[in-house]
Amino acid sequence: MKVTIVGAGAVGASCADYIAIKNFASEVVIIDIKDNYAEGKAMDLMQTASLNGFDTKITGSTNDYSKTANSNIAVITSGIPRKPGMTREELIGINAGIVKSVTQSLIEHSPNVIIIVVSNPMDTMTYLVHKSTNLPKNRIIGMGGALDSARFKYRLAEALECPSSDVSGIVIGGHSDTGMIPLSRLASRNSIPVSKFLSDKKLSEVVEATKVGGATLTKMLGTSAWYAPGAAVSSMVQAIACDQKKMFPCSTLLDGEYGLDDIAIGVPCIIGKNGIEKVVELELNEAEKAKIQESAAAVRKTNGLLDV
Ligand code: 2OP
Repeated sequence: MKVTIVGAGAVGASCADYIAIKNFASEVVIIDIKDNYAEGKAMDLMQTASLNGFDTKITGSTNDYSKTANSNIAVITSGIPRKPGMTREELIGINAGIVKSVTQSLIEHSPNVIIIVVSNPMDTMTYLVHKSTNLPKNRIIGMGGALDSARFKYRLAEALECPSSDVSGIVIGGHSDTGMIPLSRLASRNSIPVSKFLSDKKLSEVVEATKVGGATLTKMLGTSAWYAPGAAVSSMVQAIACDQKKMFPCSTLLDGEYGLDDIAIGVPCIIGKNGIEKVVELELNEAEKAKIQESAAAVRKTNGLLDV
């Protein structure tokens, strides 16, 4: 199993680290345009092999896509991260060109690759990959909902004063500070609805903290977060590599599901060896249906800035 990670920045390197530690991939190639940067990150990670007990071979390359040839999975993290006070949507001007170019280079050397898009604004970058390639839609996956759901579970566990492992929760919609939809109605603590433990006020605080989870960390760190984004995307890589049939909310091109088409936005998907193997249609209530339509309108507005 060969995995390419485009972008040797904090998210890409964290993803490579987690993939290696989980030891399911034979090879990970990290590629970046910065001279020797990917090679350095790869060497540093390989020096953890005897300590973390993995056999995965991690190599780095300075923009030589022949080194990524025959990758099964590619993760696109390249582009600029946001600064405090910026929205993800403000990154489109620079990141669209980068994502389009790296996608072409990846496919040229790995025609059967499954692509996971992380670069922001992620839903629009995912849509861009669809529009600028002929890849089948099951092989283009946007990572945002897995991260947002992890943040939702963190906030729920904090409010419930329980381990995150006791909590189940999912976030759908756009991966944006205003567009994501933490589904508190469906969240549970060991199968018991969280509304049995938390007041409506507390639950709405959890929802709001989830929505700005990325921005909160960007303010604290001075740049976008990387550990949780890296962990989220590495879990999706593992689901593909190990054919886990695991459910994640992913940004995927919809064709009528949820009353939406010609848009990539976060909905629950079953992930396995073929990438997105099924889109799961939840029974949303009227308020949730209205929210996903509103979220889609915002994503379409950003998509409208693309030159596709
Ligand atoms: C985040 O929310 C980078 O969009 C990612 O942290």
